Amino acid sequence: MTVSRTPRIVIIGAGAVGADTAYTLYLRERAPDIVLVDIDAQRARGEALDMQHGQALAGGSRVRAGNYADCAGAAIVIITAGAAQKPGQTREALLERNADIMATIVTEAERYMDPETVLLIATNPVDTLAQVAARHARRPASRVIGSGTVLDSARLRWALGEALAVDARHVHAHVIGEHGDSELVAWSHAHVAGAPIELPAAQCEEIARATRNGAYEVIAAKGHTSYAIALSLDRICAAILNDDHAILTVSTHLDGAYGIDDLYLSVPCVVGRAGIERVIELTLNADERAALARSAAVLRERIVQPVT
Ligand code: 2OP
Repeated sequence: MTVSRTPRIVIIGAGAVGADTAYTLYLRERAPDIVLVDIDAQRARGEALDMQHGQALAGGSRVRAGNYADCAGAAIVIITAGAAQKPGQTREALLERNADIMATIVTEAERYMDPETVLLIATNPVDTLAQVAARHARRPASRVIGSGTVLDSARLRWALGEALAVDARHVHAHVIGEHGDSELVAWSHAHVAGAPIELPAAQCEEIARATRNGAYEVIAAKGHTSYAIALSLDRICAAILNDDHAILTVSTHLDGAYGIDDLYLSVPCVVGRAGIERVIELTLNADERAALARSAAVLRERIVQPVT
């Protein structure tokens, strides 16, 4: 008999991304039980208490501070812990330090997690750290997902919506590859109501550049990014908890699709209760195929180094 449990989401890391993700899940009532875990227990407690103080004015979710034991029975464990980019710093510069942190966290969480739990990685550089997490996880790679370019695709759709005076939710466009400087826009598959994007090439290039550099711009202005990544993580959690079979450009373990083997990067995937259900293989044009191959090469170079 399967024990019906209160769906729980555990967030490991109560920094800006973890706390804003908890708050987004809380406001949207994504799960009745939302747990914040941090090495600084006081910080996790303070973030949870500040949200609970609004309970009478919010919805039915509850946010609390917890510990690794709360990973037992969790539907989703989100990992946001690690060093974040400083102004002008690349995501890659965080790798060595955050790879060790990721290995430690996944090993500890695996002491408690059930086989069905989906591990959702947000710490940067997210593609490589999702691969590190998968190496230390005791679950199939389909249940180890990186937030990937869900955020970049959202930035792109916002920029295109502004340029076309169309609701961003009705713009279909994918950023694929690395969540980072080598990412690319699959322009040949971008459309609004099935019509191709009617913008001058120069404007499309500027939109792709601004999308690729979106994080640097926000970090220079406010010191970190957190709201849009929180919304991205909430969207991925919704697809898992509601078994949406949603198409999201999460970072997934490619095993032959797009001619890429044994590497995490972002392509459109069907996401549901079991995590990654399948990869959607877009027919890319020659430029897009070459750019994706370059992005994969950047990531492969990174992963073959002796990261944990
Ligand atoms: C972002 O793109 C920093 O990766 C984070 O907002």
